[in-house]
Amino acid sequence: MSESKKPTTEVVADYNGYDYKKIFWEDADRKYEDLADRMAVRRLLPSQVDNFVDIAGGYGRLADEYIPRAKTATVFDYSKTELAQAKELYGDKIKTKAGDIYKLPFDDASVDALIMVRATHHFKDMQKVSDQLYRILKPGGVAVIEVANKKTLPKMMRYWTGKSDINPFSREVARLKELNAGEFYNYHPKYIEEIFKRSGFQIDEVLSVSNFRSAKLKQIFGTKNLVKMEKTAQKLLAPIRFAPSIYYKLVK
Ligand SMILES: C[S@@+](CC[C@H](N)C(=O)[O-])C[C@H]1O[C@@H](n2cnc3c(N)ncnc32)[C@H](O)[C@@H]1O
Repeated sequence: MSESKKPTTEVVADYNGYDYKKIFWEDADRKYEDLADRMAVRRLLPSQVDNFVDIAGGYGRLADEYIPRAKTATVFDYSKTELAQAKELYGDKIKTKAGDIYKLPFDDASVDALIMVRATHHFKDMQKVSDQLYRILKPGGVAVIEVANKKTLPKMMRYWTGKSDINPFSREVARLKELNAGEFYNYHPKYIEEIFKRSGFQIDEVLSVSNFRSAKLKQIFGTKNLVKMEKTAQKLLAPIRFAPSIYYKLVK
């Protein structure tokens, strides 16, 4: 078996055969989270780009946000199931490319801008991932990356009340068990920011996103009001890295 055909041991979440769109987004009450992601992407992505890639983009959930800004938009993902769905949804408006994040099939300095949303929790080696993203960007290129934050208030509460032994204040990567899909990871903002800087990135802007991700809050306030509050909170709470999703606008 050639080196490139060998199954990688680093893939931790295989979405082949899984209907992520239906099960995770449509059958669950996640309208607020979806709108919060869209708001952040709109705020951080340049208004016009030539060559754009949605890294680990799944079925292209956020494609409506970047297609109008990009000359060429490519959805990159490991799962052929996700990519086939993306093609079905967006046809000629997008290109798709399959591969593994740890060996991105894009030339050095070939991409003007990229996003990577809701993917870091699957990646065990974020330094390698960050180095790959840096490699494919052109000088001056922009990466908008969402990071799963380990230092949130609910996680602090669980730690203080003894319900979890994961210390949200330590920079160590939090390894969590997912019911069916093995492990997933949460990161301390300071840890991840060091990684980005080590790759060579400059951190241009930070947003705190999905600040009110809670079934109770959705019940009390309703999605519409939470989205209104989210608009202010994304910038206001960014300095304390409050939310479960921290968005970074990185520049090469
Ligand atoms: C939670 S989904 C996020 C999809 C999309 N970014 C969104 O926000 O809806 C995570 C995606 O990461 C992809 N993925 C997981 N491991 C990967 C790897 N090693 N290389 C490329 N993609 C990977 C999965 O196939 C899946 O589509």
